[in-house]
Amino acid sequence: MIIVMHGRANPAHIDAVVAKIRAAGLAEHLSRGTERTIIGAVGDERVLSADMFETMPGVERAIRVLKDYRIVSREVKPDNSVVSVRGVQLGGSAIQLIAGPSAIESAGQMQALATRLRHSGVGLLRGGAYKPRTSPYAFQGVGEAGLGYLQQAARSQAMPMVSELLDVRQLDTFLEYDVDVIQIGPRNMQNAELLKEVGRINKPVLLHRGVASTLSEWLMAAEYIAVGGNHNIVFCERGIRSFDTASRHALDISAIPLLKRETHLPVLVDPSHAGGRASLVAPLACAAIAAGADGLLLEVHDDPQQAWCDAEQAITPAALDELLATLRPLAAVVGRTL
Ligand code: E4P
Ligand code: PEP
Repeated sequence: MIIVMHGRANPAHIDAVVAKIRAAGLAEHLSRGTERTIIGAVGDERVLSADMFETMPGVERAIRVLKDYRIVSREVKPDNSVVSVRGVQLGGSAIQLIAGPSAIESAGQMQALATRLRHSGVGLLRGGAYKPRTSPYAFQGVGEAGLGYLQQAARSQAMPMVSELLDVRQLDTFLEYDVDVIQIGPRNMQNAELLKEVGRINKPVLLHRGVASTLSEWLMAAEYIAVGGNHNIVFCERGIRSFDTASRHALDISAIPLLKRETHLPVLVDPSHAGGRASLVAPLACAAIAAGADGLLLEVHDDPQQAWCDAEQAITPAALDELLATLRPLAAVVGRTL
C-alpha cells in the first residue's frame, strides 16, 4: 500500500502513519519529495485498508497496490488456465461453443437438437431446466425432468451438459444428474452462499456477469468460488444493463480484453442474452471472437417462435451453421481454431 501525505503533514503525522504500519506487522519505506512524503507499506497489504490511513491527520490518500482477488488473478498465475470438461477444453486454442435452447421443453426436443448441434460442431449442450424469470407468471422451467432430458441427449452425443443452478437446494439434484458445468446466472452472481457451495464441488462453474456488476465485483464473485477449492471457473459476459433499451442489454466488449488481462481463467460471451434478438447474435458473436473470447454461449431452437422462453433471441440450427461459416475464418485471423 502507498500512503501519500499532505504537503502540510508534519513529522508527527508521518511518525503516526509509520507506527500504524509497523503495528500491522509491515515495514515502511519513506520517500521524501519536495512537495510530498510518500510512505510505502511493505508486506502483505491485505491486512491493511485504505480508510485505516485516510482518516489520519496529514494523510492525503492511501492506494492499494495488490488486487483484492488472488486465486483468479493473473498476478498469481500468469499463464492461461484451461478448464477441461469431459475432454472439451475451455480456454485452449480452440474456441468452444455451448449451444442449446434457453429452456428444456421435452426429451424429443433435446435429442433432436443435440444430434443437430453435434453435427454443427458444438462442443457442449446447454438447456435450462429451472428458469430465472422476471415475472412469477412466466414459464419457470420443466424442473428436474428437464435435467433428465438434457442428460440423455448430451450423453447420446458424448457432449458435456450445461445448466443453470438457481438455488443451493437444487445442487444435489444437479450432482445426481451429473451436470458437467454448473451455470450461475447474473441474478446469482453475488449470491455468496451459492458461490461458496459450488466452490466446494469439483464441477466447472460458468459464472455469468451481473447486469450491473463491475468487473472487480465479478472477479471477486469468482474468488468466492475459488476460495472453496474449485478453480474450474469460466466467465461469461452476457451483457449489462444500459440506459438504452434498443437492445436487451449492452454487450460489454471491453470486458473481454480487460478480464483476460486480470484473470487466467477462460472468458466466454453470450450474444443471445446480450442482444436479446436473433438478428444481433451474429454481429455480436463476431465482435466477441474478434475481441478475444474463448467461446460462445448460444441459444438455439429448432423453431424459435415456438420456444417456451426467450423466443426472440434464439437462432435456428441452420442460422448457427451460417454463423459458424463466418466465425471460422475470423477465428483464424485472431490465431484461434473453431
Ligand atoms: C434466461 O434464459 C432467463 O431465464 C430469461 O432470459 C429471463 O427472461 P425474463 O427476464 O424476461 O423473464
Ligand atoms: C440462460 O443462459 O438460460 C440464462 C438464464 O441466462 P442468464 O442467466 O444470463 O439470463
